[in-house]
Amino acid sequence: MTINKIILTVIIFNFITQIKMEDVYFAPSLFLNHGGGPYPVLGEKNNLEIADALRNVSNYVDLGRLGAIVVVTAHREEDVVTISSAERHSLVYDYYNFPPESYELKYNAPGDPVLATRIHEAFKTAGIASRLDDQRGWDHGVFIPMMLIHPKADIPIIQVSILKNQNAAQHYEIGRVLYQFRKEGVAIFGSGLSYHNMKEFRKAIPDVEKDIVNKDFDSFLNEVCTGDEGKRKRIVFWEQEKGGYESHPLGEADHLMPLIVNAGAGGPKCGRNIFDSVFLGKFKISGFIWD
Ligand SMILES: *[C@@H]1O[C@H](CO)[C@@H](O)[C@H](O)[C@H]1NC(C)=O
Repeated sequence: MTINKIILTVIIFNFITQIKMEDVYFAPSLFLNHGGGPYPVLGEKNNLEIADALRNVSNYVDLGRLGAIVVVTAHREEDVVTISSAERHSLVYDYYNFPPESYELKYNAPGDPVLATRIHEAFKTAGIASRLDDQRGWDHGVFIPMMLIHPKADIPIIQVSILKNQNAAQHYEIGRVLYQFRKEGVAIFGSGLSYHNMKEFRKAIPDVEKDIVNKDFDSFLNEVCTGDEGKRKRIVFWEQEKGGYESHPLGEADHLMPLIVNAGAGGPKCGRNIFDSVFLGKFKISGFIWD
């Protein structure tokens, strides 16, 4: 080869790799409000807007360009971060007293054992204890929103648990580790509810209620989640905020933890509110994206 040919080859090679690199989708971190049990999928009237918002996720996320989705679920609490790692996972119908069809729902997306192992390694590098789990199925925090977001079920899913200790700072760190995978087209979906107080849910009479009970805490979430990184970190101190424990009672903040993971995975840009709704007539709920 002449020197000219070598130079030409190098130029062409660089050109091709550059195109390939630009082709990789910088996937978002996104918080989903997943509603009550299987209700969003069943079309229950109080969950219609939530279901709509889940179907709308494709307005914000280029699903066709995703390599995989990590779903951080409020419904799996573990001592160490637990990562689903099989090629295929069954579903766990972890809700009670719902109509029979609720126990026959299907979401047959593949897993991604290689990515699961890399996530496990990334946690190890960051000093966060985690483990792979190729046995247990995906819970409804995963399959209920995913059935509405992407019924085709052909994007690999990795279920990631939250921690039993509900330590906000640790969940933020989990998000910070997951951030790097966004750069290679892996979306980070947090699946929970921005307001979640079971006692209050049971008491609510949706058609009668008029007053929002959690304005302060919802404002706080909107302020920090749409702020810059410095502001966003304040989510870790959510317990000090007015209405914090009314929105997520002490020891029962499992539905907030995925949002804290999303915030940690938010990266340098500010987040945006993509869902602003009222659940059961009196509870404000908010959804966010960092893209
Ligand atoms: C879903 O998207 C449609 C149209 O894009 C919009 O009219 C509707 O308000 C959205 N619903 C929710 C709950 O985001």
